[in-house]
Amino acid sequence: MSTRSDSGRSKIALRDLHKAFGSKVVLDGVDVEVAAGESLVIIGGSGTGKSVLLKHVIGLLKPDAGTVLVDGVAVETLGNREITEFRRKFGMAFQEGALFDSMTVWQNVAFPLQRLTKKTHAEVDARVHECLEMVRLHGVEEKLPSQLSGGMRRRVGFARAIAHAPEILLFDEPTTGLDPVTTALIDEIIIGLNDHLKSTTVTITHDMESAFRIGDRVAMIHRGKIIAAAPPDEFRRLEDPRVQQFIHGRAEGPLTEDAAPAAATPAAGPSLGEITWRKR
Ligand SMILES: Nc1ncnc2c1ncn2[C@@H]1O[C@H](COP(=O)(O)OP(=O)(O)OP(=O)(O)O)[C@@H](O)[C@H]1O
Ligand SMILES: [Mg+2]
Repeated sequence: MSTRSDSGRSKIALRDLHKAFGSKVVLDGVDVEVAAGESLVIIGGSGTGKSVLLKHVIGLLKPDAGTVLVDGVAVETLGNREITEFRRKFGMAFQEGALFDSMTVWQNVAFPLQRLTKKTHAEVDARVHECLEMVRLHGVEEKLPSQLSGGMRRRVGFARAIAHAPEILLFDEPTTGLDPVTTALIDEIIIGLNDHLKSTTVTITHDMESAFRIGDRVAMIHRGKIIAAAPPDEFRRLEDPRVQQFIHGRAEGPLTEDAAPAAATPAAGPSLGEITWRKR
């Protein structure tokens, strides 16, 4: 299998990606590409491997077979030093939150700016305030994550992900647990980043309204494969009964007939914050 890019302008390309944990096959030949500047939304049942897929994109997990190309580079071939450099391209807001618990909100959001940019303290401070303002958080700079609500922590994680204006943004359920108004706000920010900064964005969501709002394309994963990918209007009209069942959240249908109950076990392993923002 080729590990070189022949994908033209695609920013991210997953090619025939396979991943199993023990005997449990999670990804079973995932093929999907994200064009530069595109906003791709990934949907799918709980435990279908959405978070696992995203972790392959930044090299937190290595595929058993297949390849992940980012700007034509096969991520799984990068060594430790290269991967640290490579991750500068990304802003990530992970499902688990992954804030530094012992750091204040200000320190959390400032972290990528201090690590990845040459901004002065005053510039960092201004950007931290700007990002917190964007997610409508006021007066929480000196609080610790444990002093915030779950939704507030999620918004801090989001602010941290976008702080250094990265070229690629990965959001794993950025709006889960947020009220509808805040969800709409986060959606607007994602659309704005995509439109104005021309960021390439991959967002996982369970919220179909969000999916259709922020996606240039929506892709659905089922049984380890991407079974459909299309722009929102087209996606809504797809006749695949699995897609229709998922979009409309019906209890009865092929997703619940042909599959064992989806496992909702959270991914084990070290804290994502520790891994992704690890000091060199
Ligand atoms: N590090 C790991 N070790 C072993 N199994 C794992 C690991 N990470 C994920 N899995 C398993 O892989 C499967 C897919 O997990 P994943 O977290 O990607 O699901 P998901 O689609 O993101 O689900 P949800 O919508 O609930 O977040 C699950 O069965 C999970 O238990
Ligand atoms: Mg997940």
